[in-house]
Amino acid sequence: MRFTVAIDGPAAAGKGTVSKAVAAHFGFAHLDTGLLYRAVAAKVLVGADPVAAAKALTAEDLTGDLRTPAVAQEASRVAVIPEVRTALVDFQRAFAARAGGAVLDGRDIGTVICPEAEAKLFVTASAEVRAERRFLELQGNGLDVTRAGVLADVQERDARDSERSTAPLKPALDAVVIDTSDMSIDEAVAAAIAVIEEKRGDR
Ligand code: DC
Repeated sequence: MRFTVAIDGPAAAGKGTVSKAVAAHFGFAHLDTGLLYRAVAAKVLVGADPVAAAKALTAEDLTGDLRTPAVAQEASRVAVIPEVRTALVDFQRAFAARAGGAVLDGRDIGTVICPEAEAKLFVTASAEVRAERRFLELQGNGLDVTRAGVLADVQERDARDSERSTAPLKPALDAVVIDTSDMSIDEAVAAAIAVIEEKRGDR
């Protein structure tokens, strides 16, 4: 069975948490596509050319310390380059087509990578709520961050991701929007599962 779930949305909206929970619930494979851009960014930060790094990317590059604010900012910068995006398309589409179902989360999954996805979600929340969540997460990981700094980072990344000309962040016309600003994790996950069950004809 082939069933693709596309989950897009801005930084720290809860996409990752929702995607993992949805994949576990349905027994689907999960790809966090932000990791591809983060892995390219990590190579650029040590001197690599972004397009060459994207073309040479392998699954082994998706591990390591990719969850830092510096890597996130650089990821948003390399993601503007059309040739970088093109180099990462085949890997994402092959993942989406795997038997047994797949969840891909990112910025352009429902619009560009998998326009034919059976279920599309756009998971969002206010910038303030997202910044607070990310602040607590980074602080919990022992990083030396401030609330104001994290909010500025989130807003800068939102603007760059939404305003770029190639594959900008936006909901697909047929995506179901889930605003998690006033939701618990469990509520957001339940809302996502309900949408997918409906698309699968489970209910
Ligand atoms: O989801 P994330 O925060 O790990 O993504 C890091 C950056 O990568 C994000 O700011 C923009 C870019 N990105 C993208 O352009 N397209 C995707 N499908 C996923 C991420």
